[in-house]
Amino acid sequence: MNRERSGAPAQRRAWPTGERAVRAMGEEGGVAAAEPPLIVLSAITKSYGRGQATFQALRGVDLEVDTGEFVAVMGPSGSGKSTMMNLLGCLDTPTAGSYRFLGVQVEGLDRGQRALLRRHYLGFVFQGFNLLARTSALENVELPLLYRHQPAAARHAAARAALAQVGLTGWEHHSPAELSGGQQQRVAVARATVTRPLLLLADEPTGNLDTRTSHEIMELLGQLNAEQGITVLMVTHEPEMAAYAQRVVHFVDGLVASDRSNGRVAR
Ligand SMILES: Nc1ncnc2c1ncn2[C@@H]1O[C@H](COP(=O)(O)OP(=O)(O)O)[C@@H](O)[C@H]1O
Ligand SMILES: [Mg+2]
Repeated sequence: MNRERSGAPAQRRAWPTGERAVRAMGEEGGVAAAEPPLIVLSAITKSYGRGQATFQALRGVDLEVDTGEFVAVMGPSGSGKSTMMNLLGCLDTPTAGSYRFLGVQVEGLDRGQRALLRRHYLGFVFQGFNLLARTSALENVELPLLYRHQPAAARHAAARAALAQVGLTGWEHHSPAELSGGQQQRVAVARATVTRPLLLLADEPTGNLDTRTSHEIMELLGQLNAEQGITVLMVTHEPEMAAYAQRVVHFVDGLVASDRSNGRVAR
């Protein structure tokens, strides 16, 4: 499946190229016949601590996201946004409730299958960029491909194409310290998308950036959503940034308080 990355046709991938891989992850009954939503969270709770000190960060979250959507997640600090993103990213497990990814019950997967899901279908972007220091932009972007045992030449080519996609041609051999914040976040976006994930999870991706650079990163996420069909779920505090999404979900006290269309038509 060595499809040319650059110049790949704009398309909405109804079913992923790795459909069989998801099926192989298994679950009694398998996936539904019709295309299921990308994400279905039902009555998800998450508690931290125990006994008297138990804190319920999520108190019964229901959320459905379809393939191709660009969703902004807003809400006060401590309302459970990052907790939900970590659950969606299989970085953590819920206390109760159900998470289905393309119809597959995620709780039913073992560690290896969850790692597979993460590696093949999900990409992450964080507020703090989380790049390896003293490591070139190219090497940072190649990292997820190492886990996929791709040969070096294919890795280099894919990473270069991903960097080109985020406008960083010519910056391949610079280390994070030599790049601006906006450029570092672009590298992080390239690293998150070099594997062509179905879902990009971005937790306050512009939290450390100035307004102009934030808008540039939003344009980039919008472009990845519109042109590559990557579903984007992004946490942000800023209404201006949420305006790039088609849909805004508000969290309050560990619950979805509102879920509305942004009145913007998908491009
Ligand atoms: N590992 C943890 N241990 C204990 N409490 C946590 C942990 N992670 C988050 N919390 C608590 O859960 C609540 C929700 O956190 P979080 O999901 O990070 O909120 P948000 O991203 O909306 O600001 C907060 O009150 C936070 O203190
Ligand atoms: Mg957070």
